[in-house]
Amino acid sequence: MQPAGIAALGLLGLALTTPPSLGQSAYPSRPITVIVPFAAGGPTDIVARIVTGHMAATLGQQIIIENVVGSGGTTAAIRAMRSTPDGYTIMMGHMGTHGAAVALNPTVGYSPSHDFEPIGMAVGMPVLILVRKKLPAENLTEFIAYLRDHAFPLTMAHAGLGSVSFATCLLFNSIIDAHPAMVAFQGTGPAMQALIAGRIDYMCDQIVSAAPQIGAGMIKSFAIASPQRSPILPDVPTAAEAGLEAFQVSAWNALFAPKRTPPTIITQLNDALGQALDDPLTRKQLLELGSEIPGTDGRTPGALTNLVNSEIVKWMPVTHSVTVTGR
Ligand code: MLT
Repeated sequence: MQPAGIAALGLLGLALTTPPSLGQSAYPSRPITVIVPFAAGGPTDIVARIVTGHMAATLGQQIIIENVVGSGGTTAAIRAMRSTPDGYTIMMGHMGTHGAAVALNPTVGYSPSHDFEPIGMAVGMPVLILVRKKLPAENLTEFIAYLRDHAFPLTMAHAGLGSVSFATCLLFNSIIDAHPAMVAFQGTGPAMQALIAGRIDYMCDQIVSAAPQIGAGMIKSFAIASPQRSPILPDVPTAAEAGLEAFQVSAWNALFAPKRTPPTIITQLNDALGQALDDPLTRKQLLELGSEIPGTDGRTPGALTNLVNSEIVKWMPVTHSVTVTGR
């Protein structure tokens, strides 16, 4: 046989024996990286590790969490946006990275709706006002008076411009006309350590990392910014009960893939996410930390698209009505 014929037969043989691992149907054939836009130990990291633990088992591949910190989560979002859209790099985004950060700075470098494929919402996340243990106030009214009247500005921790802790406390401060000295951290995980140590006066943070510290008496909480009290923190009043009805906010975490990730892969990831959210042990872990698990209607990529669009519109007036010092 002529060499060309041999080559042709060889190619034919390769085509017949090529395993589907080179095609989409074999996805995933290697570990998946989930970018978390804040430091380890914070709310986004906690949720990502719980949810992807179960997703890894469903997908039959390891899922690696990569904490990419900086610029209120937007460094990570840009990194995720620029990743190859093959399903091997996705991101745990949230109300900040895919909402408030872009409302705050439309030239941040990405569009949550145009540069990402929504995979699905993981959890809803109540937000609380948290105060260092020894601050001399026992309820929200006393805290607001102390915050307004203190001779020196109190210190408020946040996780960067546009983060959940930044945007939600921006709203809180604007409602009560407070002007704290803002101190940025690479996530509310490290900010929480500063609050526990008494190096920071207050912050607005998500329930999953706040609840264990409140329960252990390491910090105080004067209000949850939700319509109802949380079942895991029954002694913490709602903002309305505490006298600040206008402070109503809630955060969320959701998975996003870079734009042009194939629809079959998005479907697989969404299905694995749904299985995680239906798994009794995963649910128990999430619920015991106070997060809220979306029903099946709230987990679809379409529902996440609507949520992202509504959040940008919602946060636009808040982030533009105040002077941002971001110290
Ligand atoms: C975190 O995971 O550290 C938080 O979600 C940061 C934030 O947005 O406040």
